[in-house]
Amino acid sequence: MLRKVRQIRQFGPEPVPDDVLEQLLEVARWTGSSKNTQPWHFIVITDPEQLRRISRLREAINWVAKAPLGIAIVTDGVSSRSESYDAGRVSERLLIAAHMLGLGAGVAWYGEPPLEAEAKRILGIPAERTAQLVVLVGRPTSIDDPRPITRPKGRKPLSEIVSHERWGKARS
Ligand SMILES: Cc1cc2nc3c(=O)[nH]c(=O)nc-3n(C[C@H](O)[C@H](O)[C@H](O)COP(=O)(O)O)c2cc1C
Repeated sequence: MLRKVRQIRQFGPEPVPDDVLEQLLEVARWTGSSKNTQPWHFIVITDPEQLRRISRLREAINWVAKAPLGIAIVTDGVSSRSESYDAGRVSERLLIAAHMLGLGAGVAWYGEPPLEAEAKRILGIPAERTAQLVVLVGRPTSIDDPRPITRPKGRKPLSEIVSHERWGKARS
């Protein structure tokens, strides 16, 4: 089942119902974090103009404009190493939860530091906080990537990414 959780970039226009949003936020709230610091804050974005502004940060996230809902992940900006793990963990949980609730979701990174700063300005995030990404949620209309960017498809075979007992050693 989890193998079917994909990055969704094409959504239907229907709003995400409030009860579904609530469930997504509860999943986010209950995500584990380093030392249980819960170093996050979530900005719910449904205003199409806000989503459009973010989508214009760079071409690779232009699909953000057509999503009905964004959940921007903001972390405290205190411990960058653990907070980046925690932000990745909570965003993946949101992708999985959206899938389990019959929707789809995708991650959009704002980009390099100047673009992150611009995203923080758009969303009114205090300068000392860290904000790198927003998770977009909605009814998936396709799993295809609509961008004119070529990326590798599928996944590397296990034989290429797994060793046993020591780096580079095949199973004996
Ligand atoms: C850290 C991270 C940043 C990502 N940033 C973007 C992004 O800015 N724009 C985008 O369209 N997809 C982004 N993605 C999604 C990846 O492109 C996606 O996970 C990958 O292509 C695999 O997609 P699939 O599971 O549908 O095969 C990001 C994923 C991760 C984990």
